[in-house]
Amino acid sequence: MGENTAVKWILFFFFPALFIYGLLHVYSSKPAQAKRTKDLTAQEEAGRKVYNKFCVGCHGVNGDGQSEAAKFFKDKPPNFHTAVFRWKSTPEGTLPTDEDLMRVLDWGIPQTPMPSFKLVPEVQKRAVIAYIKTFSDRWKKEEPGVSVYGSIKKPADFGSPELVQRGKELYAQNCTACHGEQGKGDGPVAMTLPVPPTDLTYPVRSAGPDPEDTFRVLTVGLEGSPMPAFGHLSERDRWALVSYIAYLMNKDK
Ligand code: HEC
Ligand code: HEC
Repeated sequence: MGENTAVKWILFFFFPALFIYGLLHVYSSKPAQAKRTKDLTAQEEAGRKVYNKFCVGCHGVNGDGQSEAAKFFKDKPPNFHTAVFRWKSTPEGTLPTDEDLMRVLDWGIPQTPMPSFKLVPEVQKRAVIAYIKTFSDRWKKEEPGVSVYGSIKKPADFGSPELVQRGKELYAQNCTACHGEQGKGDGPVAMTLPVPPTDLTYPVRSAGPDPEDTFRVLTVGLEGSPMPAFGHLSERDRWALVSYIAYLMNKDK
């Protein structure tokens, strides 16, 4: 009998108590919130609320990318205080445009933890963009760079077998060290890099859905990451590389 009572005690008291304790623990360990530390405009203040709701858990209370979650990520969130952005269409050393930041929020950064906020209303996204700019004074002193999207023109023969073939050759010369012979992101120097090279055979591009987005990456690079700019290659050669990447993305379909 004694043993039975002990079992009942565990079932009827101990487990429910443990469960409630667990629940309390989960509810009390919500991420800390970004506090208002300076004078904010009405839009920035609205953005701070959006940030606390959707971003703080990964990007951190101070916007410096230091969060509990980030410790587990291979791709680390950026430090908004330096205002150095990878996923943008402006030349190295310049600030991104608002449209660049909006593209990141709408598309997310596939193959990294950064999710898409496509379903969040645009006014909230504009507000959170205004808020993340308050982390760096660069936004008060500098203008965003000139976006390359203004001058990108996809050639009529994009994706043609000739362009794919030319892209394959250029790829073998310039890209395999990091992205690997098959494009899987497993080249010989991949392991030594602070950020893993993207698997280019994955059917969704981190930079955005269109060939123009990949062309933009090749033109300006990804600032602050090992991915260099290939703006020195001719426009035609960059389109050949984008054609080859499009081929890699669709190869297994
Ligand atoms: C689940 C974690 C997570 C959440 C939630 C999240 N982010 Fe991110 N975010 C990341 C990571 C990780 C990166 C870096 C990805 C990379 O560049 O490889 C990133 C990148 C970004 C970038 C691009 C930085 C660059 O270098 O170009 C912006 C802008 C950004 N996040 C804004 C936001 C905003 C605003 C929110 C809230 C609306 C948000 N993020 C929510 C994890 C997250
Ligand atoms: C020194 C190493 C290195 C070399 C060389 C290199 N890459 Fe990258 N590449 C990277 C890394 C690392 C990333 C991921 C960066 C990140 O997430 O911040 C990347 C990202 C990319 C992306 C963005 C992927 C996406 O989903 O949007 C493309 C496209 C790309 N590389 C194509 C190329 C091509 C084409 C070449 C050759 C012409 C090349 N890379 C050469 C390291 C390299």
